Amino acid sequence: MMKIGNLEIKYRAMPAPMASFTDIAYRKLMDEMGYTGFLVTEMISVEGLWRKQMRTMDMIKLFDFKTPQFVQLFGSEPGPLVEAAKYIENETGYSGIDINMGCPVPKVVRRGSGAALLKDPARAAAIVRDLKKNISLPVTVKIRLGFNEVNVIEIARILDQEGADAISVHFRLKSDGYKGQARWEYAPLVREQVKTVLIGNGDILTAASAKEKLDIVDAVMIGRGAIRNPLIFAEIAGAPAGDMDLKWSINRLLELIREYYPPRLQLSRAKAFARFLFSGRIGCKKIRSSVHAATTFEEAKRHLLEMNLDEIR
Ligand SMILES: Cc1cc2nc3c(=O)[nH]c(=O)nc-3n(C[C@H](O)[C@H](O)[C@H](O)COP(=O)(O)O)c2cc1C
Repeated sequence: MMKIGNLEIKYRAMPAPMASFTDIAYRKLMDEMGYTGFLVTEMISVEGLWRKQMRTMDMIKLFDFKTPQFVQLFGSEPGPLVEAAKYIENETGYSGIDINMGCPVPKVVRRGSGAALLKDPARAAAIVRDLKKNISLPVTVKIRLGFNEVNVIEIARILDQEGADAISVHFRLKSDGYKGQARWEYAPLVREQVKTVLIGNGDILTAASAKEKLDIVDAVMIGRGAIRNPLIFAEIAGAPAGDMDLKWSINRLLELIREYYPPRLQLSRAKAFARFLFSGRIGCKKIRSSVHAATTFEEAKRHLLEMNLDEIR
């Protein structure tokens, strides 16, 4: 059992936060399926929270859960981040706060948030220091190897000293975007430098690869690979497959999309998930284009549930 702050974390693998994907439907599916250490929302704007924007408030909606859930905040200044974190602590049932220091999107970086904080270690440190001083929920941080150049050792060490309860590292630079291979060779170097929980992230697609990484880091976060295969966490935990196979998980996710989204958004949600579901698989050209061409949610659902899983790998 691993601890993040006061939270007992049962499993050493979890879904990486992904905007448009780790939404309420996907997190509910993961909570029902089990075997993930914790769950993280999509990145939530501090400003949107402050303004109580409807879209932002929708993104932090909760359901009854058994897996600890973190809100991931993005912002550039310690003050507003602390206010947002206090709101989460006092007004919601979330279990912890994660700070985004890795997002490469220009709109985010331009405002000094996301990966921009990797260029400003003093500010990154002040954010964690002030959060730790002002809230009692666990505080974790998600970073990359650096902005244009690797400075992960310096950043991770500082965040550790300020009391970050866990540090997740996506082993790419901001300037890499999602290109090339994640550079896991940095994992042992970071491990040596930090005492806090270290979570590694990048390009994990199979349970075998996750288990290999778990020899180096305390836990692994899986992003795209966990949309493609929601069963990956059960596989890592060595759990018996039971009834929750891939088809079950697709069907359940579609049910949850229908439950949580208004009809006008359901089709685009289903298509977005389907894109990652098929990515990197062979034998799914036909089904991929049928889903893509679907004009109603029910049609996309029918194609997805009629697909022959033995034909795609
Ligand atoms: C569509 C998409 C949305 C993402 N949104 C977020 C986000 O909101 N917050 C965050 O910290 N990382 C975000 N990421 C990065 C992932 O958490 C993860 O670091 C990255 O995808 C590498 O891991 P993977 O190879 O397992 O996918 C996003 C990635 C993708 C592809």
